[in-house]
Amino acid sequence: MGGVVAQLLPGTPHFTEKDIPSLIGKVFIVTGGNSGVGFELVKILYSKGGTVYIASRSPTKVATAIEEIKSSNPQSQGHLKSLHLDLGDLTTILPCATAFLAQESRLDVLWNNAGIARAPVGSLSAQGHEAHMGTNCLGHYLLTKLLLPVLIKTARVLPKASVRVVFTYSGIVDIQGGSLGVSLAELGPGKHAKTVELNYGASKTGNWLLPSEFDKRYRADGVVFVTQTPGTLKNKGFDELPWAMKTLAKFFIYEPVFGAYTELWCGLSSDVKAEDGGRCAIPWGRWHPSPRKDILEGLKLKEEGGTGLAADFWDWCEENTKMFAGAAA
Ligand SMILES: NC(=O)c1ccc[n+]([C@@H]2O[C@H](COP(=O)([O-])OP(=O)(O)OC[C@H]3O[C@@H](n4cnc5c(N)ncnc54)[C@H](OP(=O)(O)O)[C@@H]3O)[C@@H](O)[C@H]2O)c1
Repeated sequence: MGGVVAQLLPGTPHFTEKDIPSLIGKVFIVTGGNSGVGFELVKILYSKGGTVYIASRSPTKVATAIEEIKSSNPQSQGHLKSLHLDLGDLTTILPCATAFLAQESRLDVLWNNAGIARAPVGSLSAQGHEAHMGTNCLGHYLLTKLLLPVLIKTARVLPKASVRVVFTYSGIVDIQGGSLGVSLAELGPGKHAKTVELNYGASKTGNWLLPSEFDKRYRADGVVFVTQTPGTLKNKGFDELPWAMKTLAKFFIYEPVFGAYTELWCGLSSDVKAEDGGRCAIPWGRWHPSPRKDILEGLKLKEEGGTGLAADFWDWCEENTKMFAGAAA
């Protein structure tokens, strides 16, 4: 139950829009920035003058979000742009990265925020992987790989630890109990766990394994990779909850902007150092006090006394995405 109370009762946010300086000249990507936490994060970055790319799957929803954000911040000197990205279809990732690189020569922070949580058991990505795993892990793995050169290039000229990639874990994994749900034997095309929750949990575990492995491989290049659980937040289904559940939930469910504060801390706070690569933050921006023992073991190689799960997971992601990486493969 690692740190569950700390996640449910996180107190007052200590790193908000009031704590960040002008972001003019900085360039960001937020996947899934048209809705929920991502939308709130984009709003903050744009209000401070950043150039923000919303990478998401529905051009209409992205256009609506851009219009709404622009009209709520008419004075901003920022720029808002869209990138077409369907994380559940690996053929869209290279065109997305290419479109970004045609417009920008720097990338300060990539927030791998998008995610699906409730795809029915048996749902598959375009390439036939379990839908949560395909979208939340394989899609973000490939996007991050393709953007690594520009991240590394940006890191070379900026202060230490200011170029970052923020993945999105979920506190649900901490309360799930049982096995981690990332069984490599179960991950092949068309394979999946037996419940929606386990499939989602497996993908969210993957969203911690990946930044840990990216950190091991690319810390020396100056990029900081972390993950975070944004919090227990109102989402699209909240209003449909029964009255009694809604009343109870009010004590533990927060507005999406609070989740944006967790993501903001990971991406921009000077509290986050190069040595923090591979760590997980909890609401509203502090390190996880008591991660699951099996996750910590999974992050370590077998020769370090761990289970080597993260390294195996990395290999699996690499194997399953390399044919969609173009010349970068
Ligand atoms: N809300 C919570 O309490 C909570 C708790 C823990 C973790 N999280 C994680 O936090 C992140 C944001 O959650 P949220 O509550 O803000 O969710 P949300 O409101 O449902 O937003 C998810 C975003 O991801 C996009 N997306 C989904 N599938 C995609 C795909 N195949 N390709 C590209 N974009 C895709 C969605 O686009 P559409 O609008 O087109 O669907 C949307 O913009 C997720 O990773 C979630 O797992 C949330």
